[in-house]
Amino acid sequence: MIALGSDHAGFPLKEEIKKYLDEKNIEYTDVGCYSPERFDYAISAQKACDKVVSGECDRAILCCGTGVGISMAANKVRGIRACCCSDYFSAKYTRAHNDANVLCLGDRVVGAGLACELVEVFLNTEFEGGRHLTRVNQIMAIENGEKLY
Ligand code: RB5
Repeated sequence: MIALGSDHAGFPLKEEIKKYLDEKNIEYTDVGCYSPERFDYAISAQKACDKVVSGECDRAILCCGTGVGISMAANKVRGIRACCCSDYFSAKYTRAHNDANVLCLGDRVVGAGLACELVEVFLNTEFEGGRHLTRVNQIMAIENGEKLY
């Protein structure tokens, strides 16, 4: 199950991503927003990320104008590793090397075609573990207030 969320600026891209997920028979839950009316991205980010942390959803895909604000908000949720991507390589390796659980996209940055390619590679790339697990654990240690040095 994928959690989807956006602000007003990301709303059109979220609707395109829903069409893509429907075509692929991938289940999702849309936490909003539900129209192009002004809506603050931190609310959707927290709602969607809470579903990932609770285990209700495997991953989240979030959209705002740039993808940046909603990724900043998402990364404030404990347990979330969100990456704002506008290129294929980053979307692939944020899964393979960072075990990212949230993909953030900018409606004003990427077109729907590229966005769906990024979603596809993000959902279909496995975490490689190994030395990358050590590094991901270090990221999470910072979140838990530990000193790495
Ligand atoms: C909304 O105008 C815009 O600021 C927002 O969608 C996002 O781009 C912020 O990072």
